[in-house]
This record gives sequence, structure tokens and C-alpha cells, in this order.
Amino acid sequence: MRVISGFTLLSAALLALPAAAQTAAPPPGRLLASNCFQCHGTNGAGSSFDSLIGESVDEIYKKLREMQSETPGNNIMKAHARGYTDEQMRQISTYLSRQRSSSTSR
Ligand code: HEC
Repeated sequence: MRVISGFTLLSAALLALPAAAQTAAPPPGRLLASNCFQCHGTNGAGSSFDSLIGESVDEIYKKLREMQSETPGNNIMKAHARGYTDEQMRQISTYLSRQRSSSTSR
């Protein structure tokens, strides 16, 4: 009987794991947007290059689309923007548009 209840407890703990992992998942787009932080600062708050704070989803998305399709052009952002699908650019824009300062992560 002892063995069974121990096993039951272990099963319950294992079943709870996926739920815990989901709670800890980062907001959608954050992982992709973290590629931008090196140049645009943590959460886009600005460092060496332009701050992206305060820009709307549409503004960021539109600029990414423009930079992706710019011809001629061979700048940093064109090369970077070309690596993303449309859906990924929307996720990145949505995430960045919700940032208010370097300490915010929503
Ligand atoms: C290697 C450095 C680098 C990385 C990484 C990078 N950028 Fe940029 N970004 C720049 C530079 C430099 C500019 C200025 C325009 C130019 O020269 O192309 C710029 C300009 C921009 C602009 C237009 C300026 C503005 O204030 O709106 C947007 C929007 C932008 N980047 C978004 C992003 C996003 C989103 C990512 C991540 C997916 C990203 N950048 C990653 C270097 C970078």
C-alpha cells in the first residue's frame, strides 16, 4: 500500500510539471525580440542605436517590412529583418510595442 501511494504522489507531481512550465513561459515574441536587444537595448529601450520604446505595433511592423524589402540597400537592419517571417515580425512588434522601459517585461 505504501508503494502505491508513493507512486501516486510521484505521478501527481509529474503531471503538474507541464502546467508549471507553461506558467514560466516568456511572453510571445520575447525570445525573437531578444535578438534586437544587443543593438536597441534591453526590451528595445535604446543603447547604441535607436530606442524602440513608445512605437506602436503597426509602426514597428511597417518599418521591419520596409527594411526587409528595401532595394537597393545593404544595411544592418535589412540583413537582420530578412531573417524573419511575417508572423514572427508581428510577434516581435507586438512584444516591443508593450515595453515601457528597460525594467519592464510584459
Ligand atoms: C546589429 C544591430 C541591430 C540589430 C540586431 C537590430 N537592429 Fe534595428 N537598427 C539598427 C540600426 C543601425 C538602425 C538604424 C537604421 C539603419 O542603419 O539601418 C536600426 C533601425 C531600426 C528601426 C528604425 C528606427 C526606429 O527608431 O524606428 C527599427 C524599427 C528597428 N531597427 C527594429 C529592430 C528590430 C525589431 C530588431 C530585432 C528583430 C532589430 N531592429 C535588430 C541595428 C540593429
